[in-house]
This record gives sequence, structure tokens and C-alpha cells, in this order.
Amino acid sequence: MALAVKAFPLTVVSHVVGIVAMIMVLVWTIHFRGGLAWEAVNKNLIFNIHPVLMLLGLIIIGGEAIMSYKSLPLRKEVKKVIHLVLHGVALGLGIVGIIAAFKNHNESGIANLYSLHSWIGIGVISLYGLQWVYGFATFFYPGGSGDLRRVSLPWHVVFGLAVYVLAVGNSALGFLEKLTFLESGGIPKYGTEAFLVNFTAITTIIFAVFVILSVISQPCAQQEDDHGAYSAI
Ligand code: HEM
Repeated sequence: MALAVKAFPLTVVSHVVGIVAMIMVLVWTIHFRGGLAWEAVNKNLIFNIHPVLMLLGLIIIGGEAIMSYKSLPLRKEVKKVIHLVLHGVALGLGIVGIIAAFKNHNESGIANLYSLHSWIGIGVISLYGLQWVYGFATFFYPGGSGDLRRVSLPWHVVFGLAVYVLAVGNSALGFLEKLTFLESGGIPKYGTEAFLVNFTAITTIIFAVFVILSVISQPCAQQEDDHGAYSAI
């Protein structure tokens, strides 16, 4: 199943929206929330690393990894390496981002893993890791048999998109949760910061919508000649 539109323009929109989302989260954490730090007396600066790395890693670089089969007019083998490296980087940044959230809690005397967001977050990072390891072993090294690859590919695509959608939904939950804490602490409900946080979440969702649209649209010319290449669901 594929939409009767070319993927390329959709991937361009995704790149632009992704850059906008990244700028928004940086303006929020640096201008409104005091900046980012791994070691700090003000523990909120440690927390700020969390949304920045989750957005940059799992959502934006993860989205670029998903789109790489559609956005790059390269040979299948090259795109496979780009796909797995980008997902590896996304996973690494996601893990460091989650460690930052735990570090902030531990150094501030706040309990860990009490919220729905944190439970889904552990699920997301675990499934993302499993998906990466299975994909690496089956499609790259040591590589499964032809039959195993054929059977695994549609599962890999559907499972990968499901985990990605879960990650995007969980980011929205994270923005909601943090903004609710801040509003309970006194920031204005209709103030600039509140709008910025809500619109950052909306921009993230728009990015993900274009990632998914590009996956289910037509590959570029190079790929149509590329027999046995990744094909959309
Ligand atoms: C897919 C992306 C994300 C994942 C996998 C994720 C995962 C997690 C995890 C596992 C924790 C628990 C840390 C602990 O208990 O010590 C956590 C905490 C937190 N995260 Fe995220 N997060 C993501 C994105 C975001 C974003 C974009 C925000 C926006 C501000 C955010 C806000 C929070 C907040 C406020 C906490 C502390 C409260 C709590 O534990 O629920 N998260 N996150």
C-alpha cells in the first residue's frame, strides 16, 4: 500500500519541521528554563537535558532514520548502513536523555518511575533497543537467511512505526506533565512559555505525521530500479 504522491517533498517538509521543533525546545530550555548542565547546583538544568535529547534522538534523528530509505537517492546497501547508524545514534541519545531524568530525580530527592509517562518511556526505550538489535542481527550482521529477512521485513516496518508513534505520544505526555508542574508552580496558563511548550509538542506531532506520510508514499526514481529494496507497507 502506498499513497499516489512522491515521498521527496514530504521528507523536505519533515526536515524543516524537525529543525523548527529543535529550535523551539532549545529556546524553551535555554531561554525560559535557565539552560542545560550535567553537573549543577540547580538540578532543573540537569532535567533540561532530558526533553532536548529525547526530541533530538528518538523523535528527530529516529524520524530521519525511518525516512532515510525514502529521502536519499542512494544504493540500498548504503541506505541500510545510514538507517542503522541513525537509529543507533537516536537510541544512544535517548538512553543518555533518560539517564539525565533519573539523575535529576536522584539528586533532587524525587521518586523514580511514578508516572504513566515514565512507565511508557521505559517501554519505548526497551522496544526501540530490541528493534535495533533484531534489525541489526537479521538485516546486517550476521544476517538472517533470505526467508527470515522476507518474513521479518513487514514486521520490522510495522513494529518500528508502532514504537515510533508511541515515542511521539509519550513526548507529548512529557511536555504536558512538565507544563502542568510549572503551572502548579505559578507560571501563567496563557503565558508565552505555556504556549511555547504546547506548540513544541504540536510541532513534534506534525513532524511525525510527515515522517509517516513519507513512509507510505512513492519512493524516488533510483529506488524503483533497486530490486529487493525496502518497500513501504
Ligand atoms: C520518547 C521520548 C521520551 C521518553 C522515552 C521519556 C522517558 C522518561 C522516563 C523513563 C522518565 C523517568 C525518569 C525517572 O523516573 O527518574 C521520564 C521522566 C520525565 N520526563 Fe520524559 N521521556 C521522553 C520525552 C520527554 C519530553 C519531550 C518531555 C518534555 C518536557 C519529558 C518530560 C519528563 C518529565 C517532566 C519527567 C519527570 C517526571 C516523571 O518521571 O514522569 N519527557 N521520561
